[in-house]
Amino acid sequence: MQVNVFVCEICGEAYVGEEIPSRCPFCGAYKKYLVLASDYDDTSAWDVELNDKDKANVEKALGLEISNTVFYKCASKKVPELEGQKLFKILSKVENEHASVWKKILKLKSIDLPKYDECAEQYQPNLKESHEREERAIKFYKQAAEEAKSERVKQIFEAFVEVETDHLILSESRIE
Ligand SMILES: [Fe+2]
Ligand SMILES: [Fe+2]
Repeated sequence: MQVNVFVCEICGEAYVGEEIPSRCPFCGAYKKYLVLASDYDDTSAWDVELNDKDKANVEKALGLEISNTVFYKCASKKVPELEGQKLFKILSKVENEHASVWKKILKLKSIDLPKYDECAEQYQPNLKESHEREERAIKFYKQAAEEAKSERVKQIFEAFVEVETDHLILSESRIE
């Protein structure tokens, strides 16, 4: 058995295991972004030049990820179904990781998560809201990826389009 350390080029987090997982366990980025730690080079990852448009889009993305983080956290605490609690909890963690990626790109010290209690009590309405939120994120991220001047910003927006599409599939397959 060989145990390896893999690093995600999108979020910079490491994973220990025998094989590359199909998704980064932290930000959900697809397998293609996971590399052996010995091959990982982060010199161009976090010191990114942002023109005005990229900065505005990254700031908007940060706001969106924070909003989704607290929505999913709320939903994970309210829905009665254990499956729903688990699903919304991991989605909250992944969206929080996305917020953290944008935080690093913007070179912010920390991010504040606002208190949020306005999600529904039941699974189905929260799944529907999840679906709407992911659809909005995907649409905006596709547009932001096209507009991006920075290659790194473009790479993150493209990776997150795929991750949010996974999330969309999760809600789609559960909405009745
Ligand atoms: Fe990641
Ligand atoms: Fe996200």
